[in-house]
Amino acid sequence: MKNIVILTGAGISAESGLKTFRDSDGLWNNHSIYEVATPEAWAANKQLVLDFYNFRRVELEHVKPNEGHKALKKLEVNFNVQIITQNVDNLHERAGSSNILHLHGELTQARGEYSYDSVLDIGYKKIEMGDLHPNGEQLRPHIVWFGEDVPLIENAAGICGTADIFLVIGTSMQVYPAAGLIHVLPEHCKTYLIDPKADEISTSSTVTVIKEKAGTAVPALVKLLISKVN
Ligand code: OAD
Repeated sequence: MKNIVILTGAGISAESGLKTFRDSDGLWNNHSIYEVATPEAWAANKQLVLDFYNFRRVELEHVKPNEGHKALKKLEVNFNVQIITQNVDNLHERAGSSNILHLHGELTQARGEYSYDSVLDIGYKKIEMGDLHPNGEQLRPHIVWFGEDVPLIENAAGICGTADIFLVIGTSMQVYPAAGLIHVLPEHCKTYLIDPKADEISTSSTVTVIKEKAGTAVPALVKLLISKVN
């Protein structure tokens, strides 16, 4: 079986009702990255940071995977599929996909504020000031903030190095190191990009660009890829 590696971003969850970051109604238009998504923000105002992620966790509980997430699961019958997502939601898991690497962490997990080890599953519960990890540290969201290392990037690069087919879905490709993954693909790899604003994303001429929303374009592409195998 061929290897399909899929890099997803906020756009794949947009039709489920979760806001993207950089679209005109995106999260970073209403919140300052520097106030909610950096280690400095955490040091300056932990409550504000917790409120931001607590709200998003509650929101996540009330949305569902869309046709884009669900279609990716279907690929597993004919391909070895690995999803690398920048999303902190759990919609790929809830759509049934098996292999998911969360580059930027997960909303439903928490860890001690000073330690990366020993991540706890918290489901959709809020994190409050005074909620402690068993190691005694204040709990913080298990999210990779701007300015922090991306511990799983080497694993992600290794996976990309095995790709026969690479799908990029719903990401502006503005955030590194994730955006750099497109440069570690093998030469023979065929790449597809699905994004309604695909023309604003710089790619090489060998990329097949599908300028549509994920909810319709992903099921269509999945059907095409499966038909080529059979
Ligand atoms: P962005 O908000 O930067 O980009 C979202 C992309 O999704 C844009 O290119 C949109 O055109 C596209 N899009 C919108 N609706 C879509 C739809 N229905 N179907 C397909 N595509 C659609 O989000 P990301 O690229 O995911 O990091 O952002 C990367 C990282 O920056 C995030 O993981 C987050 C953020 O700051 C952290 O929080 C650490």
